[in-house]
Amino acid sequence: MPSDSPIANAQALGIPQIQRHLLLCADQTVPKCCDKADSLVAWDYLKKRLKELKLDVPTLDRPTCIFRTKANCLRICQQGPILVVYPDGVWYHSAMPDVIERVLQEHILGNQIVTDYAFVVHPLPEVDQSQFYSQKEIENT
Ligand code: FES
Repeated sequence: MPSDSPIANAQALGIPQIQRHLLLCADQTVPKCCDKADSLVAWDYLKKRLKELKLDVPTLDRPTCIFRTKANCLRICQQGPILVVYPDGVWYHSAMPDVIERVLQEHILGNQIVTDYAFVVHPLPEVDQSQFYSQKEIENT
């Protein structure tokens, strides 16, 4: 249940334990890449399967989780729904339930890109965390 504290809400959502973040173009204001109703079917399937696979929250067996976000438009606007997996930077087209299931089984659980549907692979660069903190803050941690 949401509280007034963003820190408490982040903890409740498992945000410090996120391993991967999935963004899906769905429920668009101006649907261009696919039918809006199809995008909602895909979104509902993604949410349901993450929950069924117990990937949506950290568990004792798996201390990480997979976060998902419904994006209004990911600016590709062709052959949707478009699905992006970060930090891997893998962009998938045609992300309807059958493709989402393959991404979950093969990419998320199996660490293998689903090459049949991936059209861009651009992992995000590593971030040097120390740039966000002063030397004094680092010494105090
Ligand atoms: S409407 Fe789906 S990527 Fe733009």
